Amino acid sequence: MPRAATVFACSACGHESPKWHGRCPGCGEWNTLAEERRAAAPSRRRARGALRPVALGEVEAPRVDRLRTGIGELDRVLGGGLVPGSLVLIGGSPGIGKSTLTTGALGNLAAGGRRVLYVSGEESAAQVKLRAERLGPAALSVPIIAETELETVLATIDAERPDVCVVDSVQVLYDPALSGSPGSVAQVREVAGRLMRLGKERGVAVILVGHVTKEGAIAGPRVLEHLVDCVLSFEGERERTYRTLRALKNRFGSTNEVGVFEMHERGLVEVADASARFVTEATRAPGSVVLCAMEGSRPLLVEVQALVAPSELVPPRRVANGVDRNRLALVLAVLARHGGVSLGGSDVFVSVAGGVRVDEPGADLAIALALASAAKGVGLGDEKPLAAFGELGLTGELRHVAHADRRIAEAEKFGLHGVLRPDDRTRTLREALRSLGRSGRARAA
Ligand code: TYD
Ligand code: MG
Repeated sequence: MPRAATVFACSACGHESPKWHGRCPGCGEWNTLAEERRAAAPSRRRARGALRPVALGEVEAPRVDRLRTGIGELDRVLGGGLVPGSLVLIGGSPGIGKSTLTTGALGNLAAGGRRVLYVSGEESAAQVKLRAERLGPAALSVPIIAETELETVLATIDAERPDVCVVDSVQVLYDPALSGSPGSVAQVREVAGRLMRLGKERGVAVILVGHVTKEGAIAGPRVLEHLVDCVLSFEGERERTYRTLRALKNRFGSTNEVGVFEMHERGLVEVADASARFVTEATRAPGSVVLCAMEGSRPLLVEVQALVAPSELVPPRRVANGVDRNRLALVLAVLARHGGVSLGGSDVFVSVAGGVRVDEPGADLAIALALASAAKGVGLGDEKPLAAFGELGLTGELRHVAHADRRIAEAEKFGLHGVLRPDDRTRTLREALRSLGRSGRARAA
């Protein structure tokens, strides 16, 4: 039987089905299946016979020098710079600064003698120039083409042979030979696949810029995430100045690294001393605690703030910014059950100052202390803010978390001594709250 010429592909997960469904059988999303031309059937090649497996230790792996983008925070998140010939996807919501970041990186690389190319599909060359003018002379030296047709882009890359090429964005490029509109699963997969093959063949590191949907997934196909070597996510709120860049996937480095940036009128500025910023900005008012967090291999001090207010609502409001809602729910439950702080009749707001997101169990104790402090109206710490970290267990015990020594060292660097954490004196939430009462009184005295 001949194969049907078209197939229905899900724009969310890439699942393919011969028939249309209202709901994707792959991921359960509604109205995401769109008809697309089926890829040509793979031609059967003759088998080449058996291969001789080689022990991993004997595999030749030449050491490659990474391409430094000159943006320290970006290089660190990449695992020490861009790997030649690699394919990197940078996702983020519109206006977060993806184009600014990539233009700046190319400018630095060009200034360092690397060949670069900027492919702009979304903005005209003139628009990109206006941005580059704000970023400075290095950015103005970046060669650009404004093009959306895939073949032309590939031909240009092949002719120019840059070391690094930015494609902004992967969702606007298209191959006219395919039926789907730009941004559809088939198109995005084709665009990324062809760029990857060319990049690997010619040793061109390709940075794909991708938009994220409101749910936070890279718009359209998750298929891209499998294909690329690194997925970087650029996050933050547009109204806030702080932005964080984190690796969700990295074949060449850790996925725990986070870069912190600030958006200025002259582009993105790295915040290398993020802890210093956040500690200076921390208040000593009730409801504020400094959390010694780990962002990958780097300790980071951030201020956790809580507000507790009487509520008319049933159920009362639970608002979490920068911390996971489920983590907040757990901390509230443990506080009520094991800490004697019951907030069932109150609206509760918790946020990490500066728009930073912390997603680690080590944040529990700081959240609990901020809530208890807010509920009692008692400020923590003395002339310096109180710093804390530790995980809460379901039975009210404090659990150790990784890198305690580095968290403490970071706090001490900024003059925050006596960090509250799980240790011999403080084994449970109740014990931690008791020492809170003491420091609160000490401050009131
Ligand atoms: P942009 O890089 O275009 O975001 P994206 O490519 O992710 O959509 O820029 C984001 C915002 O940053 C834009 O609204 C303007 C602002 N901006 C500055 O504040 N200062 C600057 O120097 C630049 C270049 C942009
Ligand atoms: Mg852009």
